[in-house]
Amino acid sequence: MEALHIEGPVRLSGEVTVSGAKNAALPIMAASILADGPVVLDAVPEVTDVRTLAEVLAALGVYCHRQPDGTLRLETIANEACQAPRGPVRRMRAGFCVLGPLLARRGRAVVPLPGGCRIGRRPVDLHLQGLAALGAEIQVKDRYIVARARRLHGAVVNLLGPRGPTVTGTANVMSAAVLARGVTTIRGAAVEPEVVDLGRFLQSLGARIDGLGTRTVTIRGVEQLGGARHGIVPDRIEAATFLIAAAITGGAVSVRGARANHLQAVLHVLQQMGCQVEIGTGQITLRCDGHLRSVDIAARPFPGVPTDVQPQFTALLTQAYGTGTVHDQVFPDRFTHVGSLWRLGANIAVRGAKALLAGPTPLHSAAVRALDLRGGAALVLAALAADGRSVIRGVHHIDRGYDRLAEKLVLLGADVRRISPRATTANLPHARCDERSAVMLPTA
Ligand code: EPU
Repeated sequence: MEALHIEGPVRLSGEVTVSGAKNAALPIMAASILADGPVVLDAVPEVTDVRTLAEVLAALGVYCHRQPDGTLRLETIANEACQAPRGPVRRMRAGFCVLGPLLARRGRAVVPLPGGCRIGRRPVDLHLQGLAALGAEIQVKDRYIVARARRLHGAVVNLLGPRGPTVTGTANVMSAAVLARGVTTIRGAAVEPEVVDLGRFLQSLGARIDGLGTRTVTIRGVEQLGGARHGIVPDRIEAATFLIAAAITGGAVSVRGARANHLQAVLHVLQQMGCQVEIGTGQITLRCDGHLRSVDIAARPFPGVPTDVQPQFTALLTQAYGTGTVHDQVFPDRFTHVGSLWRLGANIAVRGAKALLAGPTPLHSAAVRALDLRGGAALVLAALAADGRSVIRGVHHIDRGYDRLAEKLVLLGADVRRISPRATTANLPHARCDERSAVMLPTA
């Protein structure tokens, strides 16, 4: 397991380009099962989850190749396999997105219950209710979903859960409904840009979908879909992470590819905190003079502040003057990064779904461990602002969803190095290893 060594504090400056959105690329790759023809995708990020999903698809007869021009080509070689392999699906949430396409295209799907970041309860009841409404017979056997349907039919499906619409649930039901007989109306559909991007991809295959980006999506089933070329939407979460990185380091960074209409809530919070935001053509620039004001932040479904940026904002609030709160209304238990932020010197209390912060607190170097993707990003941001050399382990979590994060930060002036495990201990004269937790702790 590799570690990141980060020497802080640094003032980031320069330009960075965001990659395509992981959370759009994954359901789009899964939906390629529906295509009767090759699919070519531009701007698919080079992240582990993409490789893991390619493993799932290969087991299902869909081969993914990176072409010399960087595009990803997906082609179905065989249409018979219906069972998704347990190992890779258990490693991520989006593996479950093959369920709807398999059912619609092949009439049968055997898909393990998904894994993914441990950020609280992540049920799939709405996915299953939605597919059952389209006529699928569904059973749960030995932690596999076993579903079959000779031909799905249109229906009215409600995907609004207790904390809002489900993102991958909308992907699954929408991808299934495109080949169903008749009209499907999804009420309470997710409106995240990644879901809209999936809908546009399906349209480019020949699907008939209206209402994308609204809570009511109407799908008229067609008999067959072709192939297509599609560009993945830029990653708004990666863009937000770089904007927050600029803010926490008192820097000035232009994020190329960032779309302001996907980031309005994030930009509003950053402006409220005292950052200067300039929206240009195809890029957003953030400048921060180092003086940040605390605010209260609520993470909500789009167009609210994304829950996937909540940990990064929590790191940022440690550097703001006054008291502030971060309330995660989507995943109320998504606070595993707080323990590591404490080690770095943060003053945070967690009460239910809220983190309460009083700042600014000077951050100092520490050896910490990323426990999930966005929590890991929050630790990287805090380490950039902390005094001294921090070590972040559990980098594989960050690699699941950030395309060359360390390299991009280096281009902005950060001192970030990837280190192998042997070097991790050898290079840390001021650290000892706690045997029980196997976590590196700074000596007192
Ligand atoms: N929910 C239900 N029933 C369901 C599905 C969801 O009650 O059947 C609840 C969840 O418990 C949660 C809320 O609905 O409280 C939202 O969950 P959702 O289904 O929207 O999340 P997801 O589809 O599993 C995707 C992203 C996550 C992102 C969330 C919220 C992918 C692959 N994952 O997850 O991304 O946090 O939407 O926006 O698209 C990440 O990239 O780090 C990440 C975790």
